[in-house]
Amino acid sequence: MRMYDLIMKKRNGGALTEEEIRYMINGFTIGEIPDYQMSAMMMAIYFQGMNESETLALTMEMAKSGDMLDLSDIKGIKVDKHSTGGVGDKTSLALTPMVAALGVPVAKMSGRGLGHTGGTIDKLESFAGFSTGISERQFRDQVNRIGIAIMGQTADLAPADKKLYALRDVTATVDNMSLIASSIMSKKLAAGADAIVLDVKTGSGAFMKKEEDSFALAREMVKLGTNAGRKTIAVVSDMDQPLGYAIGNALEVKEAIDTLNGRGPTDFVELCITLGSYMVQAAGKASSDEEARAMLAKCIDDGSALAKLADFIEAQGGDRELVYHPERLPQASIVEEIISPCDGYVQKIVCDEIGICSLILGGGRETKDSKIDLSVGLILHKKVGDAVKTGEPLAVIYANEYDKLEAAKARFLKAYTINSAAVAKKPLIKGIVNA
Ligand code: URA
Repeated sequence: MRMYDLIMKKRNGGALTEEEIRYMINGFTIGEIPDYQMSAMMMAIYFQGMNESETLALTMEMAKSGDMLDLSDIKGIKVDKHSTGGVGDKTSLALTPMVAALGVPVAKMSGRGLGHTGGTIDKLESFAGFSTGISERQFRDQVNRIGIAIMGQTADLAPADKKLYALRDVTATVDNMSLIASSIMSKKLAAGADAIVLDVKTGSGAFMKKEEDSFALAREMVKLGTNAGRKTIAVVSDMDQPLGYAIGNALEVKEAIDTLNGRGPTDFVELCITLGSYMVQAAGKASSDEEARAMLAKCIDDGSALAKLADFIEAQGGDRELVYHPERLPQASIVEEIISPCDGYVQKIVCDEIGICSLILGGGRETKDSKIDLSVGLILHKKVGDAVKTGEPLAVIYANEYDKLEAAKARFLKAYTINSAAVAKKPLIKGIVNA
């Protein structure tokens, strides 16, 4: 077999066989197929697409390109949750201790921030001493002991995707449905959970900006998970404005803690309860949505979800007291309001721009190796549909450097559209996709 022939076949609109995809992924992973040939192949796939069986084969080959985690010695049905990424998306921080408090074993692999979107691992590092660099053995033991563990993606998990993603990132071949679906699902399948609940974001802060594209991605991923024998369900949720009010690592941790204390923003609580309900049902802990929702509300009311978060932080080296004293989390030195220049209603927020404001403040990485500032970010005071008066704060900005504060402020004001027409609030949950 020759890579040249496979590139030509795909370029001319042919479908690759399972054997051809295996050859290509194996060769690329071990370095026998060079980046330039793989780049040409990615561009051919970008234009010609892949059919269902090609996408399944690509997903499975990437999943098998490294370690497939065996979680069989963890008792119970393991349920993973994955978000396609957004702004202010601190869902895992609140949701995983909630479901763990209800006896759902959480063995989760999380990532760091990417572009304008934040990552769970960066947020968790706001807890002094906390580490996701734990061994597989510790990971499994901890889930058996306290019901929850989160680790970073190891170099051995789906290495083909790691290499391929880096290549796609610089060859303008990221936004293809089959390539995104296989990239995400290869990692999820390799991470070993029995059931997968996906949160597919849609809107200006998401990877997929159009609702129809987000639903198509959700369908594709549900199909891949189901074909691989994992119970898979996707919730398509709004990312046309930030989730909750907090954007920035420690600020989002505080909002997640507030939520576990029963003081969460309405949209964020709704998302946690919706995703949580599917996780609890998939794990066999509740037999209806109503029952699952009641259980999730109760674990907040009785403090068991908050206690689970403290246990989890402590088990991975962090200071559990910070869960009860979030005012001791990293604090920015400059706190300033961003004032509305006019009266009216918030019509629109360009969501990815708000993520970029946090990035400019130092809350995200400009380059792969940038060190992030955990304390900076924004707390929104006004969201879409809210009335605002001249001089009222639209948000409070947390910074450590004045030049970054000014740059973020200017960008923030451009992201808001305010005028006199009243606006109806849009639903957070756009739909559910299941097998
Ligand atoms: N996230 C991934 O892991 N892969 C993609 O292709 C896009 C988003």
